[in-house]
Amino acid sequence: MSFLLSILTAIAMVDARAVVRRDFVPTVNRTTLVGVVTDPHLDRDSCGSVKWGNRVLWTCRDTQYVTNGTVENFFSSSASYSDLNTDGSLPLVTPVPDEFFPSGDYPAALVLYGDNHNTSFFEVQSDECGDNQGGSCSDGSRFVIWPNYPPLITSESSSAIVAYNWIKKAQITSSFQLFQPDPPTSLYRVTSAPGGADSDTLPSVTLINEEFFAVDQWNYGNYGGIVVGGTAYLYAQNNAGDIALAKVATDSVEDSTQYSYYVDGSWIGSRPAINDTSASLNVTAGGQGTFYYSETWQSYVWIGPWSTAEHILSVPNGNSASIGSYTMQAHPEYSGPNEIYVTYTIQDTDHYETPLYLIQFN
Ligand SMILES: *[C@@H]1O[C@H](CO)[C@@H](O)[C@H](O)[C@H]1NC(C)=O
Ligand SMILES: *[C@@H]1O[C@H](CO)[C@@H](O)[C@H](O)[C@H]1NC(C)=O
Ligand SMILES: *[C@@H]1O[C@H](CO)[C@@H](O)[C@H](O)[C@H]1NC(C)=O
Ligand SMILES: *[C@@H]1O[C@H](CO)[C@@H](O)[C@H](O)[C@H]1NC(C)=O
Ligand SMILES: *[C@@H]1O[C@H](CO)[C@@H](O)[C@H](O)[C@H]1NC(C)=O
Repeated sequence: MSFLLSILTAIAMVDARAVVRRDFVPTVNRTTLVGVVTDPHLDRDSCGSVKWGNRVLWTCRDTQYVTNGTVENFFSSSASYSDLNTDGSLPLVTPVPDEFFPSGDYPAALVLYGDNHNTSFFEVQSDECGDNQGGSCSDGSRFVIWPNYPPLITSESSSAIVAYNWIKKAQITSSFQLFQPDPPTSLYRVTSAPGGADSDTLPSVTLINEEFFAVDQWNYGNYGGIVVGGTAYLYAQNNAGDIALAKVATDSVEDSTQYSYYVDGSWIGSRPAINDTSASLNVTAGGQGTFYYSETWQSYVWIGPWSTAEHILSVPNGNSASIGSYTMQAHPEYSGPNEIYVTYTIQDTDHYETPLYLIQFN
């Protein structure tokens, strides 16, 4: 089986002209399996990353703490750091054989670190069946407090980095059906001092508002975002798959009255209804992915699974036991001009893997 991934160059973002899709098709020169991304003891799903001071911060969904093949803890999110070499390259090492990554499967490993204290990075609240930090409820349903996007940095100084995550307060049945098609959205603030490469202390996370956007409102920020010149552009995706856009000054992210919304080609102050098709952007997006800026192309680029776009990479789906491959994420912090590192998630019967690829363009 192969997994199709594609790219859309989009969004020449000049404030009011927020969404211009470019008729530009990147061509791939070469793709290379670089290695695997791993954190000893942590087996986890769907990781994204962001440059965080002089290193890289990764946030992931469902995470198991594993010792010698035994799952000892389960939580709905986790975080880790990786280092950046001073020339910006990846500090790759020879993979150490363990139960999940037998040597030989991957040419190299990017080893992550950081102390998660055996709890969810984005704390699962008491009304989200948070006593177990996996969000598992006694009736068999589950709150899946999953970061779909790495923290969006809104300010960075020599003393502090401030970032935000908008996370759906989604409850699913044991057969993965949503209780609410468009659940509320929680806003979390993620902060730390820039820190040093020696520190295991992860950034601190504060819940600003558990229902920052209420049920049946667009989940701006959950689908990704970009900060340009003091403004955060925040994307939402509704249950029907439509994409909408809001913007807010980076110093007003916590004040929902300061947001404005892109509707029918204009920025307006009132939030469009969840199924208002005039709020829908002219893009064909799939699920989870990443936005980044390419100097070479002078464009914002979205990498993720798309229904129609350019096919750029086919990847193995793992071994015969694997269930699926998904969540392509771009890692621009490691990438040079005209190339991009990407990871995706392989879900196997008993674990996840995060292969790392390099895509070089012409
Ligand atoms: C990749 O780039 C090299 C160097 O520019 C070029 O010779 C080669 O034809 C390119 N390959 C593809 C498949 O585009
Ligand atoms: C790991 O588990 C295996 C069997 O499941 C056991 O033989 C081995 O001693 C264990 N290793 C450690 C370090 O606990
Ligand atoms: C996390 O849980 C594992 C397994 O119970 C334990 O070995 C480890 O020491 C714990 N780590 C922390 C920081 O509590
Ligand atoms: C929006 O449309 C979806 C179907 O895509 C439907 O399930 C949902 O109830 C609608 N929401 C509202 C508030 O009308
Ligand atoms: C959407 O974008 C495509 C590609 O730029 C363009 O051909 C099409 O006309 C646009 N559709 C609308 C409704 O704006």
